[in-house]
Amino acid sequence: MSENVKPYKDSELDKKEQVTKMFDTISKEYDGLNRVISFGIDIKWRNKVVKLVADTKPENILDIATGTGDLAISLTETSAKEIIGLDISDGMLEVGRKKIKSKNLDEIIQMVIGDSEDLPFKDNTFDAITVAFGVRNFMNLKKGLSEILRVLKPNGIFVILETSVPTKTPYKQGYKLYSKFILPTIGKVFSKDRSAYKYLSESASVFPFGEELNNILRETGFINVEDKPQTFGVATIYTASKA
Ligand SMILES: C[S@@+](CC[C@H](N)C(=O)[O-])C[C@H]1O[C@@H](n2cnc3c(N)ncnc32)[C@H](O)[C@@H]1O
Repeated sequence: MSENVKPYKDSELDKKEQVTKMFDTISKEYDGLNRVISFGIDIKWRNKVVKLVADTKPENILDIATGTGDLAISLTETSAKEIIGLDISDGMLEVGRKKIKSKNLDEIIQMVIGDSEDLPFKDNTFDAITVAFGVRNFMNLKKGLSEILRVLKPNGIFVILETSVPTKTPYKQGYKLYSKFILPTIGKVFSKDRSAYKYLSESASVFPFGEELNNILRETGFINVEDKPQTFGVATIYTASKA
C-alpha cells in the first residue's frame, strides 16, 4: 500500500521521518502552491467538511495533520469552543501559528506537535475529528485510524478529505495527465523540493479510495461510514462515527 511510497528514494529514513522532513522543507511555499495545484477548489471541499462538522454542533474538535491550519481556521465557523490542530511537522505548524495569531484566533485554536499514530489524548475526548489530505501520508494507516477512533467520543463525527482517482472517462485520462506530468512540473518549477510534488502525486495514485477506504474504516471499528466523491472524483469526503 502507500507505506512503500516515500518522498526520497535514496534515503535511509523511514516514511514518517521523510514525510516530516519534506513538509518542514516546503512549509513556507505550501499554502501558495496548494491553491495553484488544486485550482483553488480545495477551499470549496474544506467548506463542505466544515458544514458536515458544524451540523453536529461540536464543543471541541481535533484537526489531525493540520499542516498550516487552513481547515482548523475554517472550523472556527462551527460552534466549537476549542479546536486543536495537530501535526508532525513543526515547520508547517509554525506557518499556521502565525496565521492564527494574525486572525486573533489563538484563544480558540491550539497548534500541537504530535503523531497521529500515537495521539497525546485520553480515550473519548473529541466530539469531532477531521483530517484533510493527511491520511495518505501516515506511515501506518490502520494505526492512525485506530488512534482516531480511540480519542473520538461515542456518536462523534470523523471526517476525512483525501485525494482519490476519477474512474470515468474522460476524467480518468485527464487526471492521469495532470498527476503524471502537470503536478510534478509545477513542483519542479516552483518548489524548493523537487521530490515533494512527485511524491504527492505518486502517493495519491496508490492510496485506497471509495469503497476500499470505507472498508478499512469499518474494519478499524468505525460505523455509519460513507464516501462522497467531489469534483469528478479527484477528491473524496468520508464521514464515519463511533458506536
Ligand atoms: C498535505 S498536508 C495537509 C495539511 C492540511 N491538513 C491541509 O489540508 O492543507 C499533510 C500534513 O500531514 C502531516 N502528517 C503526515 N504524517 C503525520 C502524522 N503521522 N501525524 C501527524 N501529522 C502528519 C504533514 O506534516 C503535513 O502537514
